[in-house]
Amino acid sequence: MLNLVVLAGGSGSRLWPLSRQLNPKQFLALTNAHSTMLQQTVSRLKGLNIGAPVIICNDEHRFLAAEQLRLAGEDTARIILEPMGRNTAPAIALAALQSVAGGEDDMLLVLGADHLISDVAAFRETVSRALPLAEAGKLVTFGIVPGKAETGYGYIQKGAALDTGGFVVERFVEKPDYGTAQSYLESGDYLWNSGMFLFKASCYLEELERFRPDILDACRTALESSAKDLHFTRVDRGAFSACPEESVDYAVMEKTSSAAVMPMDAGWSDIGSWSALWEVSTKDESGNAVSGDVIQQNSSGCLVRADHRLVATVGLEDLVIVETKDAVLVAHKDRVQDVKNVVSQIEADG
Ligand code: GDD
Ligand code: MG
Repeated sequence: MLNLVVLAGGSGSRLWPLSRQLNPKQFLALTNAHSTMLQQTVSRLKGLNIGAPVIICNDEHRFLAAEQLRLAGEDTARIILEPMGRNTAPAIALAALQSVAGGEDDMLLVLGADHLISDVAAFRETVSRALPLAEAGKLVTFGIVPGKAETGYGYIQKGAALDTGGFVVERFVEKPDYGTAQSYLESGDYLWNSGMFLFKASCYLEELERFRPDILDACRTALESSAKDLHFTRVDRGAFSACPEESVDYAVMEKTSSAAVMPMDAGWSDIGSWSALWEVSTKDESGNAVSGDVIQQNSSGCLVRADHRLVATVGLEDLVIVETKDAVLVAHKDRVQDVKNVVSQIEADG
């Protein structure tokens, strides 16, 4: 059975001050006034004959997640609650272990909860084309033709074409530096790793066992001592805190020889920062993306979001202004990756 696994435990700190610890970006309606990133993610596969979705998020967001899933018509979703974030390799391991413990070896379609996909039909079609590859034991990642030398993504060098569709992964490089990303872009041989994966639960667990048995053991112990409560699985705090923190990209994808890549052209973006949100937003003739009560005079290329007060801008270029009830961000659009440092500073200052 094909099962959707949604990774929804990130902090989204680059989208401060809208994304907060108590309400991170995956639970916000960032790109669509009516549905949150999580709701858009689960709705992408609606109507297909697949199992109830599995959502993995932080314990402190359990009500937020359950309520949003209910409103999206996903009352039967199963929610795995992590007592603390240990990044994506352990999160996926929990879902895979739960699947095999139930006596099934489900096919898992693992999606981030921070992506926008504008062409859902193309997305579904690409996923179905990737199924034979995953059935044959591959860890399939979906690859996006890169548009710039982005350092926030993983890069995949395409190898030989496979009979079952897609390509061998020649090399997987997670988040290279700028110069390396630039050379990958110029070579034309590389795709972006979309952070969406398709594999059999057992195949992921085998590769994790091979490269990071410490992570697998810790997750197994934590899941065995977890508590079940309605649709929630509460992972044991003591056992999970002993689990090393690592992303699936570093733990498995960079190392495995079972990876395959299926190119995807479905209007994919990772809404990771304010400039990424500006790029996908509807803009006026001066390139401003505006929401809320905003007056603009001779400004261009700005993202302005006013949630509580009137915001007026005069003669500004390429700025991000985000007004919320208790905090205002003003940043240059080229420097928005550093917004996460503001969050670190707030945390450090207590
Ligand atoms: N459950 C859980 N627990 N989910 C998590 C955790 C965790 O500890 N940490 C992150 N996530 C979720 C995030 O909420 C997001 O939906 C997804 O996992 C990916 O995490 P990000 O932190 O957004 O990763 P990234 O964007 O920096 O990098 C990944 O995605 C890129 C494409 O968007 C990598 O896979 C890159 O290679 C890829 O290019
Ligand atoms: Mg991301």
